Amino acid sequence: MVTILNHPLITHKLTQMRMKETKTKDFRELLDEIAELMTYEICRDIPTKKVDIETPMGPTKQAMIDREIILIPILRAGMGLVNGIHRLIPTAKVGFIGMYRDEETLEPHEYFAKFPKEIDSAINLVLDPMLATGGSAIAAIDNIKKRGAKDIKMVCLVGAPEGVKALQEAHPDVDIYLAALDEKLNEIGYIVPGLGDAGDRIFGTK
Ligand code: PRP
Ligand code: URA
Repeated sequence: MVTILNHPLITHKLTQMRMKETKTKDFRELLDEIAELMTYEICRDIPTKKVDIETPMGPTKQAMIDREIILIPILRAGMGLVNGIHRLIPTAKVGFIGMYRDEETLEPHEYFAKFPKEIDSAINLVLDPMLATGGSAIAAIDNIKKRGAKDIKMVCLVGAPEGVKALQEAHPDVDIYLAALDEKLNEIGYIVPGLGDAGDRIFGTK
């Protein structure tokens, strides 16, 4: 399932992020705000269970979230989505997977991985603003499935049709959430119109 979060607040902020004159501070803040807004929709189907509580009026059974949630940013750019989601799910644990894309071959290379032990029973939200060829997301999900993860959602800001198709073929069980589905990849593997290099724009490198 692919969900595109067409909401005016998200789209407006994403348009600001796309503008080439938007500087690092604003870019990072806008990404953080979009991540928070996306969380509402991403969590729509998270299971709840009835618990016994007491209000000032007496005992009652009410619903609370029933599953552990783990955020797994794909380093570096995925870090830009963590704080916004954490504001709404402050108890979420965080795992990390480091990936960089070879600029020539576009192949992903893993350089770091560390996950909470509950990865096999949790809802795992894999985070990366950009889904271009899909190589990094597919490799990250391969890794966490090897460690027992079963329930996985992929959360991205901007996707290319090529990356969405590749990810759906490789991991049909993984739901994909996007703020926008863009037109295409260019000849050097960047999303068009996209927003450029997300990691560099978040962290001020380059
Ligand atoms: C970017 C982006 C994704 C990947 C997407 O990361 O954040 O991880 O490229 O491309 P793909 O779908 O073709 O794999 P990059 O490798 O530039 O590393 P960074 O996050 O450290 O900047
Ligand atoms: N990685 C990015 O940061 N941007 C793209 O457009 C493609 C991959």
